[in-house]
Amino acid sequence: MRTTVGIVGAGPAGLLLARLLHRSGIGSVVLESRDRAHVERRQRAGVLEQGTVDVLRAAGAGERMDREGLRHDGIELRYRGERHRIDFPALTGGRSVMVYAQTEVCKDLVALQLEEGGPLLFEAEALAVEGAEGDRPRVRFRHEGREDVLECDYVVGCDGFRGVARKAVPAALSRTYERAYPFGWLGILADVPPSHDELVYARHDRGFALLSMRSPTVSRLYLQVPAGTDAGEWGDEAIWDELERRLETADDWRLRRGTITSKSVTPMRSYVHEPMRHGRLFLAGDAAHIVPPTGAKGLNLAVGDVVTFADALIHLGDTGSAERLDAYSETCLRRVWQAERFSYDMTALLHRDPAATPFEDRVQLARLERIASSRAAAADLAEGYTGFPLGERR
Ligand code: FAD
Ligand code: DHB
Repeated sequence: MRTTVGIVGAGPAGLLLARLLHRSGIGSVVLESRDRAHVERRQRAGVLEQGTVDVLRAAGAGERMDREGLRHDGIELRYRGERHRIDFPALTGGRSVMVYAQTEVCKDLVALQLEEGGPLLFEAEALAVEGAEGDRPRVRFRHEGREDVLECDYVVGCDGFRGVARKAVPAALSRTYERAYPFGWLGILADVPPSHDELVYARHDRGFALLSMRSPTVSRLYLQVPAGTDAGEWGDEAIWDELERRLETADDWRLRRGTITSKSVTPMRSYVHEPMRHGRLFLAGDAAHIVPPTGAKGLNLAVGDVVTFADALIHLGDTGSAERLDAYSETCLRRVWQAERFSYDMTALLHRDPAATPFEDRVQLARLERIASSRAAAADLAEGYTGFPLGERR
């Protein structure tokens, strides 16, 4: 098999890239190791930045998002029983975010790709990327019990943190930056209308809690738990009791309970692989970087990477200049590191570090008070939350 761009992985990065290339008349083949149902059901991110919303619309993939997604103009910070709203449009010159789940973004993009786009092969596992230094890189893969080779002009590794593409960058040229956190998030989905109309980020002495949502009838909630916690250790009533404690306010706000339909623990990690390009292999999304989920940057960063790659390849076709492709890693990493910083800060602002001293606890509260009382501090949070610019865009 032969194509212009070989895309490894059909998460949001790979699917959106295939769509962007198709819209510009550039051929691609997507190889995905799992089946379609798995790709469409994997519970993950829920918040789209303004820039991501704009990109999905421009790619002709925003129709259902605009119908069913929930536009959010702010979030609430809770600490010591107090509630403080961050007003995004007022603090950022009109920006907002969209609550529309990653599962739905993937469903929309898979449907469009199968209807209009190039080949998207499920249960096609990439085994290795080879020849990245030359001008004919290849992906060796296994599909329907047979090994095959996809020959390409370019390969984009969109195969997530545990994929194979990153391994094709020689160790001597790779630099990695990493931080593990001593906690994770226990996340639930529940059949109950959200107890607040905006997301609530709560700092509590017992640990962080987040109230989010998937629709007007489905709530998504998270609890900080120690790293290594097994979701099975938590009974449903214990989860609701703990959420109630951590989200408690001094006024008459109440948490609504409902049937829990899914329960899982997400580990938390910060990770960056540099460079994001080696020869004709480009890394995008979680294949190159991971952020802790606080602030919902992971999916949005993946979108930024593939938009940068698609723009650069289109620019090469239009002008003959490889300048933007050559700058891919540097361009992406500037935005990646801003998101790494933001996610790290937001995690530190809201979580209870088991090793924190009483001094550090007080400084954490002082930070929250600063955001609640200073427009400049609140604007900094709002700008980071609604998203950093995507850079060059057609
Ligand atoms: P992925 O979505 O990981 O997609 C990679 C794809 O590649 C997968 O479909 C995988 O099956 C496929 N693949 C892997 N190896 C191969 C191979 N060898 N051959 C072919 N295909 C392969 N972000 C938030 O903002 N908020 C959240 O609440 C949140 N929760 C998360 C929970 C979990 C458990 C995880 C893992 C991530 C979470 N994230 C969250 C992060 C966010 O979901 C990711 O940043 C986003 O999915 C990145 O998209 P991606 O396309 O780069 O990678
Ligand atoms: C969700 C996840 C996040 O990491 C976050 O900061 C906000 C919302 C969510 O899954 O709904």
